[in-house]
Amino acid sequence: MEVSLISFTLLRQCVPGPLSPIGYSTTASRPNRALSGDVALSIHGVFLKALRSLGTEEQIAKWDPLCKNNQIIATYAQTELGHGTFLQGLETEATYDAATQEFVIHSPTLTATKWWPGDLGRSATHALVQAQLICSGARRGMHAFIVPIRSLQDHTPLPGITVGDIGPKMDFDQMDNGFLQLNHVRVPRENMLSRFAQVLPDGTYVKLGTAQSNYLPMVVVRVELLLGEILPLLQKACVIAMRYSVIRRQSQLQPSDQEAKVLDYQTQQQKLFPQLAISYAFHFLAVSLLEFFQRSYSAILNRDFSILPELHALSTGMKAMMSDFCTQGAEMCRRACGGHGYSKLSGLPSLVTKVSASCTYEGENTVLYLQVARFLVKNYLQTQMSPGSAPQRSLPPSVAYLAAPVLARCPAQRAADFLCPELYTTAWAHVAARLIKDSVHHLQTLTQSGADQHEAWNQTTVIHLQAAKAHCYYVTVKGFAEALEKLENEPAIQQVLKRLCDLHAIHGILTNSGDFLHDSFLSGAQVDMARTAYLDLLCLIRKDAILLTDAFDFTDQCLNSALGCYDGNVYERLFQWAQKSPTNTQVVGWNYKLRKKAENRQRTLPMRNI
Ligand SMILES: Cc1cc2nc3c(=O)[nH]c(=O)nc-3n(C[C@H](O)[C@H](O)[C@H](O)COP(=O)(O)OP(=O)(O)OC[C@H]3O[C@@H](n4cnc5c(N)ncnc54)[C@H](O)[C@@H]3O)c2cc1C
Ligand SMILES: *[C@@H]1O[C@H](CO)[C@@H](O)[C@H](O)[C@H]1NC(C)=O
Repeated sequence: MEVSLISFTLLRQCVPGPLSPIGYSTTASRPNRALSGDVALSIHGVFLKALRSLGTEEQIAKWDPLCKNNQIIATYAQTELGHGTFLQGLETEATYDAATQEFVIHSPTLTATKWWPGDLGRSATHALVQAQLICSGARRGMHAFIVPIRSLQDHTPLPGITVGDIGPKMDFDQMDNGFLQLNHVRVPRENMLSRFAQVLPDGTYVKLGTAQSNYLPMVVVRVELLLGEILPLLQKACVIAMRYSVIRRQSQLQPSDQEAKVLDYQTQQQKLFPQLAISYAFHFLAVSLLEFFQRSYSAILNRDFSILPELHALSTGMKAMMSDFCTQGAEMCRRACGGHGYSKLSGLPSLVTKVSASCTYEGENTVLYLQVARFLVKNYLQTQMSPGSAPQRSLPPSVAYLAAPVLARCPAQRAADFLCPELYTTAWAHVAARLIKDSVHHLQTLTQSGADQHEAWNQTTVIHLQAAKAHCYYVTVKGFAEALEKLENEPAIQQVLKRLCDLHAIHGILTNSGDFLHDSFLSGAQVDMARTAYLDLLCLIRKDAILLTDAFDFTDQCLNSALGCYDGNVYERLFQWAQKSPTNTQVVGWNYKLRKKAENRQRTLPMRNI
């Protein structure tokens, strides 16, 4: 292992384990971490979050203890065979029957079948079913209903319920993702979660929240997913690839040298260090988002929705960006391990297949980025309204840069100038603001030439997507820079982490250099300076690379990788683990039998020249 000046324990203090936002996840995250995420019944937790977000105090008092004591096992059933993204298209119906004060929950078509919910296939006794509410003859949109689906006596499906497993998937074999059809299943009126909307006994509909309040559980789940589920997958891939890369020696840098550790190749550093840097960037961002969420959650539950647009945009954007980058990054780490990275014994393939699901679940990423784009367009238009006259509504902090003075050119004059958080944060703000402005301009040009709004939106989504991604990158750079400022009292750690922050910002500039060159914000010469700064950083980060991954504090058991163990005994472990492969213990192989058969056939067939 490499030695470094910084203290491992100190660094560890700056990288706390998963936090425990609303109580539940402390207990859940420990077994989850110990068993490297391969635990079932995680959707039980999603159900609880939805209950606590959408339920009244009485409903929470009734169902929460049943859940916590595992007297019931619950799932969250929203997605259907025919619809996932477009929630207004969900077909499951909940029709109120005032005569019996019950809801009749029904799947009217094949495509209304609930499809994907975790723990539904064989485990769940109850489902939180999202369905279109119909009461007093009117359709009221999606609402959540607690529906018992299996008998608490013998676990068989209850009358009217057809339920099962949806079959093999890319990963998550431990999870019984299921399907559910409901045939006029009756549940009492009290089973509709009613914090934000109620149906009175006579069928009168009372709305207490906004149309968006029903989406609150998705915000809650997304915020907690980042630290709890998505980020650890990239962090583990980093640990494995980094540890392996100081053990693996391949080729010589100079003919007389001993073979070099692959981590000492600049190209290997370029593969791995940006993943390390973004792991830290995401960590600090996810922690601050969680804190922001915790500060605002009780206000939202008390129906103060003023903070919701910012919270929604941040959680949506960060979920999309993190799952995107963690998926690319984990695959990069896997390939950085050469042939052994393709072996499941490395632990890397399953990290890649797991993390890639996060690009889809809890909101498909493109769709999420486009939601961020709508938020950006709205706020940009806000800055354009009546300048100077009536005081403008102040912009949410994440988009305050849209109203900041514009800097036309980057002031950098030498490579070292790029190692300045203020310089690169401003550069990212500039590019994001320009792309947003550009996307709004395209939108307006189309509407002015007669296109209706929806058509104009559809014709500009590729441009909006680019703007949203730049905005999200800006948010991570700014978040990392702010986290650094808080480390004033730990100068050694601050210095090490600042290199990662610099690398994260500059790596993004270099991989998107076209966007920075487009309006001559950067010159070609400045991009060269940025590249020099970037290459210098790789050398500096090399010294601390192993400690920076050790600081994630994953045990060997939790990594479950022959390449990534702390002691570095890669080859011994690979050899030992391979011996355990079941095919090595089968005595008479099929190839022997096949050869025998071929011999017999040859005896009976006429000889032929081939
Ligand atoms: C591992 C896993 C676990 C899951 N667990 C659960 C669960 O527990 N409970 C549950 O209810 N669901 C669950 N799901 C379902 C998941 O939430 C949905 O698959 C997800 O929301 C995406 O929706 P979709 O499948 O309809 O994708 P689609 O919306 O059909 O996406 C297909 C393509 O269409 C594009 N697209 C769709 N709409 C638009 C648009 N408006 N503009 C531009 N492009 C668009 C998308 O970008 C994508 O490229 C799970 C899924 C997975 C993979
Ligand atoms: C949306 O835009 C694409 C690309 O311009 C076009 O092919 C498609 O027909 C449009 N869809 C609708 C519904 O207008």
